[in-house]
This record gives sequence, C-alpha cells and structure tokens, in this order.
Amino acid sequence: MKYKHMAPFSDYSVNPKEYDYLVSTAKKLDVSRILEFGPGVSTFAFLENKCKIWSLEYNQEWLDKFREMVDNPNVKMQKFVNKPYISVDKIDDMSFDLGFVDSPTGGCFVSYCRLSSALYASYRCKYIIIHDADRKGEKNTISVLREMGWKTVEAKHRLHVLKRTNNVLPIVPRKDRKWQN
Ligand SMILES: C[S@@+](CC[C@H](N)C(=O)[O-])C[C@H]1O[C@@H](n2cnc3c(N)ncnc32)[C@H](O)[C@@H]1O
Repeated sequence: MKYKHMAPFSDYSVNPKEYDYLVSTAKKLDVSRILEFGPGVSTFAFLENKCKIWSLEYNQEWLDKFREMVDNPNVKMQKFVNKPYISVDKIDDMSFDLGFVDSPTGGCFVSYCRLSSALYASYRCKYIIIHDADRKGEKNTISVLREMGWKTVEAKHRLHVLKRTNNVLPIVPRKDRKWQN
C-alpha cells in the first residue's frame, strides 16, 4: 500500500480494516471515478487504485485541513452545503462509478443520517458505499435507498455496499453525464 502510512486514522475516520476493504472493493468493482462525501482516510484508500476522486466537505476548517493534507492531482475537493437538497457547482452534472457517503456528521433529517448526501450520490453513481452503517440513522438511510431499488451487494465492518438496479430511476442521459472510464 502506497498511501496507508499517510492516512490520518482517528475515531472519526474509517479504520485500518475498513481501509483495506475499501481498497479491495474498489478493485473488485472496477471503479475509477469516485464521488466522496467526507475527505480523509478514505480518500487515501481510493488513491491506492489510482481512482479519480471528487471529494465534498461541508466544514471549511476540515476542507482546508484535508486540502493541505491530501494534495494529489487525482483529488479535487469542494465545499457543499448540508441541506436537504444539495447542489454543487460542476459536480451536479457529472456521473461517477462509486459514491462514498461518510459526511455530514449528523444530517438535516432527524432520523435519517446523511440522507441528503446519499440521495445526491444516488442520482449520479452506479455503486454507493455508506460508512457507519451500524448506526440507526445510517440504517434508515440505507432502507430509503433499498426502497428506491438499490440492492445490497455486501455489508462488512461498518460499510454497506449498494448497487444500482434497473428499478432505480436512471441517471438522466446527457452529453456531460456519460460514464467515463
Ligand atoms: C467521519 S469524518 C470521515 C472522513 C473520511 N471519510 C475518513 O475516512 O477519514 C466525516 C466528517 O467528520 C468531520 N471530521 C473529520 N475528521 C474529524 C475529526 N478528527 N474530528 C471531528 N470531526 C471530524 C468532517 O467534517 C468530515 O466530513
């Protein structure tokens, strides 16, 4: 592993086992374009497979900190505003192979943690991974995705991997929303 030693593991981040799982899962699913809510340790895990990462952070302090810490041409970090309907300049019209949802801390919906970021990812990604999937709020958010037609691929550690099915409303086919490899 090229980046693991640089990753700022903490009580708030993915743990070392989850890091390894993200690396092997990104490889197995053959994903290269990642939409990440919550930069940090997970960003380094996706870099291990040379993924391109668009990472969104709501807290300016953490955004500045992680921008300085990561500093890699394959990572673009932007701020998002944590509200029920998220909109992010440039990212709104893009599509991704995988959405990794590990932010915001808490959410705008009382019992549905990170629902707004999970929904944002659900309109733009083929796969979604939710972190902290052992918590009630995240479990509720996963149940919304499953009601929308997302299918669980695997649940391991505190990570829940979901795959888009044909039942999920398709991503609007636009010239600038083609899958890119
Ligand atoms: C749980 S962190 C995880 C970030 C990243 N995916 C990782 O694995 O390290 C998610 C959010 O918590 C906040 N955060 C990050 N590091 C933190 C820390 N050490 N203490 C408190 N909050 C933190 C940031 O706003 C971030 O978006």
